[in-house]
Amino acid sequence: MSVSYKNIGLANTNDMFRRAFAGRYAVPAYNFNNMEQLQAIITACAESRSPVILQISSGARKYANQTLLRYMAEGAVRMAREMEKAKGADQAIPITLHLDHGDTFELAKSCIENGFSSVMIDGSHLPYEENIALTRQVVEYARPLGVSVEGELGRLAGIEDDVKAEQSSYTQPEQVVDFVRRSTVDSLAISIGTSHGAYKFKPEQCTRDARGILVPPPLRFDILAEVEKQIPGFPIVLHGASSVIQDAVATINKYGGKMKDAIGVPEDQLRQAARSAVCKINIDTDGRMVMTATIRQVFAEQPGEFDPRKYLGPARTALIEMYKRKNREVLGSAGRYGQEF
Ligand code: G3H
Ligand code: 13P
Ligand code: ZN
Repeated sequence: MSVSYKNIGLANTNDMFRRAFAGRYAVPAYNFNNMEQLQAIITACAESRSPVILQISSGARKYANQTLLRYMAEGAVRMAREMEKAKGADQAIPITLHLDHGDTFELAKSCIENGFSSVMIDGSHLPYEENIALTRQVVEYARPLGVSVEGELGRLAGIEDDVKAEQSSYTQPEQVVDFVRRSTVDSLAISIGTSHGAYKFKPEQCTRDARGILVPPPLRFDILAEVEKQIPGFPIVLHGASSVIQDAVATINKYGGKMKDAIGVPEDQLRQAARSAVCKINIDTDGRMVMTATIRQVFAEQPGEFDPRKYLGPARTALIEMYKRKNREVLGSAGRYGQEF
């Protein structure tokens, strides 16, 4: 039996974008695969009064089961409402559930029928006309149900679920008007130099600062500005927006990990993007790394510990702090739905 997101307490993604656009901030889109990540995302966003998009990738569906994840999201909405009630909040934060990197019409349809508020249909690896056709097919199914659809134009390097792209190709601003008009999509992911994962830039593309830390080349803000000019007022999405927090890299390496030259997008550049037409910023890798860093440290310092709550609990606490800081300092989404608590 199919269920609408509206009946399980989830918000409308386009409404979120309208407010983010007007307020010059970006809505965080955080991926989750397990309970501790979801608890941390919801706790951080409820406490910082930030809207949030909960993202489920195909990898997450394979790992944790789509039905379970969807009921976890429904439970997360209830958890947020209870937290808000306990704190006397006068507004509820909007929470949406989003399919990350959907690759077929059937998958997008199945997610919509199972209560997702929005879906990404990623045809970026397809020839241009096929990308338009697939995206439009999903929009035609989704729009009457009030479900928002994200398309992608240009290609990010790195791993997008089962699709691996060695080379990125920047979005061509001259294509966006045609793509948006013919696909009738609600939001557009563009490629301006971000990429998925923990190794976003090769060391030879970077310079080093005084501490020896790699400094990557800047994002292509010129392309973003041209896209904004071509489709004024249209919500833009940035994938691959983890900053690969260097403290987490150092902790992982200190406690036996091997993440040499892991490098992400500097947070000041993401803050700049969040003030523009970029209304949704996707972050997954930073959460994975903060969790791994904390667990490695607990294992190294307390080798006798065997209760998963004793390492997953501290990892969850570290995640909450990281997401709150992202909302406040990077996305600019904190405090948009009442007072932070
Ligand atoms: O875009 C990629 C996301 O980080 C999801 O990654 O397929 O390993 O869950 P995943
Ligand atoms: P990161 O790998 O930079 O966290 O990007 C996540 C993402 O784009 C999910 O769609
Ligand atoms: Zn992505």
